[in-house]
Amino acid sequence: MARRKKLYEGKAKVLYEGPEPGTLVQYFKDDATAFNAEKKDVIEGKGVLNNRLSEFFMTGLTQIGIPNHFLKRLNMREQLIRQVEIVPLEVIVRNFAAGTMAKRLGMEEGTALPRPIVEFSYKDDSLGDPLVPEEYIIAFGWASQQELDDIVSMALRVNDWMSGVMYGVGIKLIDFKIEIGRVWEGDFARLIVADEISPDSCRLWDMETGQKLDKDVFRRDLGNLRDAYTEVARRLGVMPTNVTHPPSKPTLIN
Ligand code: C5P
Repeated sequence: MARRKKLYEGKAKVLYEGPEPGTLVQYFKDDATAFNAEKKDVIEGKGVLNNRLSEFFMTGLTQIGIPNHFLKRLNMREQLIRQVEIVPLEVIVRNFAAGTMAKRLGMEEGTALPRPIVEFSYKDDSLGDPLVPEEYIIAFGWASQQELDDIVSMALRVNDWMSGVMYGVGIKLIDFKIEIGRVWEGDFARLIVADEISPDSCRLWDMETGQKLDKDVFRRDLGNLRDAYTEVARRLGVMPTNVTHPPSKPTLIN
């Protein structure tokens, strides 16, 4: 196969030049990082699962009319996506207190919020993605007021749909992060959901037991991350059938 030009390598994904102008190939790595890459590991099979799960969520968004970058899955680890100009914000939607919000406000994790809360972090690893108020976003020109209004309503629609889908498989959507990109059509920029949606970027708790099925398993050393993601994929019916993970210990066959 011809060598593709690597355009960007992030913590969990690599972006390559796509086959057509305006497209990219997004490759999902097995690398897991937390706390701004202070904690790192390689979780065999994570990239395969996230490729499938992101495909599942993005395809669902397309079906309910929320535009996003996903075009098609190419293979186990790669998908074809639309090239966007990324808005330098992490858009976080919270339904229940957890993570940095629980810590900042001294709330017990899992406390239901009075309504979904949308917050923004400025995407800059060297600063640790600081939480920023809307005023900064407008003043520094990271997005216009109109774009910000559109981003909030898009994020809330994603939240409603994702919450329902996860509820249907016995999982509570605690919070999640999305990224938004601009696609230019002449002078007009259209906003679409970009990056990925996977258990790397969501908090997912089992409805009955409260068991964590997301990246907190890795962040907090709560068990096997691949098993948690596999469970999410299994419940959503998107379990890759042709992947065999090596058994973690010898298995006795009678
Ligand atoms: O850490 P925090 O509580 O702010 O995270 C809120 C949500 O955003 C979590 O689901 C987390 O996985 C996600 N997130 C992310 N990437 C970041 C920061 C947060 O996917 N850089």
